Amino acid sequence: MTNPWISAARVARLLGDSAWASPAYQDLAERLRLLIVDGRIGHHTRLPSERELATALSLSRSTIAAAYVDLRERGYAEARRGSGNYAIAAARAESTALLGSNSPDDGLIELTRAAPRATPGLMLAYERAIERLPAVLGTTGYEPHGLLTLREAIADRYRSRGLPTEPGQILITSGALSAIAILARCLLSRGDRVLVDAPTYPNAIDAFRQHGARLVAQPLGDDGWDPDAIEFLVRQTSPRLAYQIPDFHNPTGHLMPAGQRSRLREVFREHRVTMIVDETMTELLLDGQPEPGPMAAGLTDAITIGSASKVFWGGLRVGWIRAPRSLIRPLVQSRIALDLGTAPLEQLVVAELLRDSSTLLALQRERLAEQRDHLIATLADRLPAWTLTRPTGGLSVWVSLPGELSGRLAANAERHGLLLTPGSQFFPDGGGERRLRIAYTLPTETLTEAVDRLAALWAEVAALGDSRGGLSLTA
Ligand SMILES: Cc1ncc(COP(=O)(O)O)c(C=O)c1O
Repeated sequence: MTNPWISAARVARLLGDSAWASPAYQDLAERLRLLIVDGRIGHHTRLPSERELATALSLSRSTIAAAYVDLRERGYAEARRGSGNYAIAAARAESTALLGSNSPDDGLIELTRAAPRATPGLMLAYERAIERLPAVLGTTGYEPHGLLTLREAIADRYRSRGLPTEPGQILITSGALSAIAILARCLLSRGDRVLVDAPTYPNAIDAFRQHGARLVAQPLGDDGWDPDAIEFLVRQTSPRLAYQIPDFHNPTGHLMPAGQRSRLREVFREHRVTMIVDETMTELLLDGQPEPGPMAAGLTDAITIGSASKVFWGGLRVGWIRAPRSLIRPLVQSRIALDLGTAPLEQLVVAELLRDSSTLLALQRERLAEQRDHLIATLADRLPAWTLTRPTGGLSVWVSLPGELSGRLAANAERHGLLLTPGSQFFPDGGGERRLRIAYTLPTETLTEAVDRLAALWAEVAALGDSRGGLSLTA
């Protein structure tokens, strides 16, 4: 496959003719970077040679070389032997954001991660788990199904929510993301269609695509799911799987109403689409409302995934799949090539945590509700032009911006001491430039500081206008 390329003259036109700030190489690198993140220079486009660009911009060749080095160091370009420099757009920029900072004391506030700090009882759970560890130490420690004690605890929990479940229907995974990867690997053939919402959880988009899926995206508006539109799309595209996050959807925070749940169950049953229900956020009800019933209830082939990450701690790396019993064996076969199993100590810790989860859950919910309310109040005060619907659960708010500036905000965030994920990352086929997801998983003082930095960033980005060579605001 040949890559697209861009001429030096076209780059010069896109950059505009405003004077170079000093040092020129840095200014050039920054302007090129904005063109790349804005999509004006596409992903994997071959950039002009140093000599051509130096002539077109009337700059020295060493200035161009230094700008390219800067872009490469920041992950926005890569050099290929003998053929020059290539732009690296959204994919690399996103994974940089999701990777977060590599040096904990660099002062950056990461609003990219919708994940809470550890639950207060975690140390105690580790201590208790260590007491139970000797029983496991007599085994090889490889247990691709997961420890029986944890599978029993999880099955109990589904039963108490009204979903009859046996331990033999549970597979323990290294987090819910690993569960999605195992499901995709096991159930999809190259070219199979998977129905997702637009927006949806970005790592699920990548996991399905990496396993050869073609995604069919159903827009999810501010008023939630539209079962008729979903049915229409299902009829047109015959997806193999439908990936749904009905409870505190990531990133919108929507909770699917009972009527839409039962309609969607009918649609998927009638058209024989296997639903993957992602219940990672299900227990994060922040307004004292009753728990929604399991979406998989009454659907014999539906698959549910869950996680210890959002209620207890992401560092545990424990998640699970609940599936029809007959599917567990092929799923185990698929997981074996990935990781052979999940660490036993962490599984024992989660079994301990589940034993006493109502107290811990109440503490976690209280903390998150306080942080959510604080973030919303601070945003209303400092950034009144930004709007949002207050979520009744989950970990983040889904902000509407008064302009298509999300990518620009994310691209410039680091200079203001922030890490942001642009709205577009939540959409499989582009869009989301007016959207920003902001997690409220940090302490209130940090959220106050984060909103101060956001306000400064916004003032700069919104004032940028078209002074940077045609990067005009489209409000
Ligand atoms: C909807 C959703 N599913 C899955 C995950 C991944 O969770 P885990 O940490 O268990 O891999 C996340 C994490 O943000 C999520 O938001």
